[in-house]
Amino acid sequence: MGILRLSHVEVRCPDLELSTAYYTEVMGLIETAVEDEAVYLKGWDEQQHHSLILRYAPTYGVERVGFKVQHAEDLDELTSAIEGYGIATKRFAAGELGPGSGETVRFVAPSGHTIELVHGMEQIGNALPLHNPPPEPQGLSGMHPPRIDHVFLMCEDVDEITRFYTEVLGFRLTEQIVADDGHQLATFLERTHTAHDIAFIVGPDAAFHHVAYWVDDWNDLRRSADIAAYHGVRIDAGPTRHGATRGWGLYFFDPAGNRNEVYTGGYWADPDREPITWTEAQMGRAVFYYEGVVDQNFLTVHS
Ligand SMILES: [Fe+2]
Repeated sequence: MGILRLSHVEVRCPDLELSTAYYTEVMGLIETAVEDEAVYLKGWDEQQHHSLILRYAPTYGVERVGFKVQHAEDLDELTSAIEGYGIATKRFAAGELGPGSGETVRFVAPSGHTIELVHGMEQIGNALPLHNPPPEPQGLSGMHPPRIDHVFLMCEDVDEITRFYTEVLGFRLTEQIVADDGHQLATFLERTHTAHDIAFIVGPDAAFHHVAYWVDDWNDLRRSADIAAYHGVRIDAGPTRHGATRGWGLYFFDPAGNRNEVYTGGYWADPDREPITWTEAQMGRAVFYYEGVVDQNFLTVHS
């Protein structure tokens, strides 16, 4: 019951045509719908209509983040909890928020991000048959990650947003980076029993750090770096190991300046496990385990 997983992320881009070419040909996502000012995309193995929306805007950044809930009643229960916290919500019928959209509850979280809870997004399948399927469809382009994995956001008060996600939305804390003064610098939260579905790091409210798509192993990550370099994509970091989440990642930028990641590895997180804590002195190693340092560029809002 409750939130199942990350559903979709909407990012802004000033040149829809250029961004669409990048996300379909370099990232290798599948285009599922086009509107005048929006393009809808998904990873090839996702059954749902979309996991990424490109929205025309004069700048970059994140417009909204959606989570999928398991049952229609979850929307009512979570709405009560969110409104009980003092946050107003707005309900939308299926289809009202664009192609494929499900029944949706929208609100602005204490971090300043617009968050949606969605039930019943249209299912369009993964292009494989349900009988005797091959492991992946033929003819995929670029990195072609199978699915979305996590989103990483920024806000001023990480302690408060972590409390909100755990106490109101039912997320579990897997890891945290704690400052010497006791405040949380970064937190990693999950609903899927993985190391993280969403994470927060100290920065400006409503700011975007990255959206990550899953690839199956280190070899796919290395191949993704080959593809990014071949296409002249600006690589930010990696392929490398994260200390926090124990995963491997490659960071790079879309044409608008939105940071993307392809990610793999990590661990299985039972709901009763204790969170891991990284100290401020070891923050570099928490983010980039091999390098042991995070440069300020990585922690600033970008382009
Ligand atoms: Fe990440």
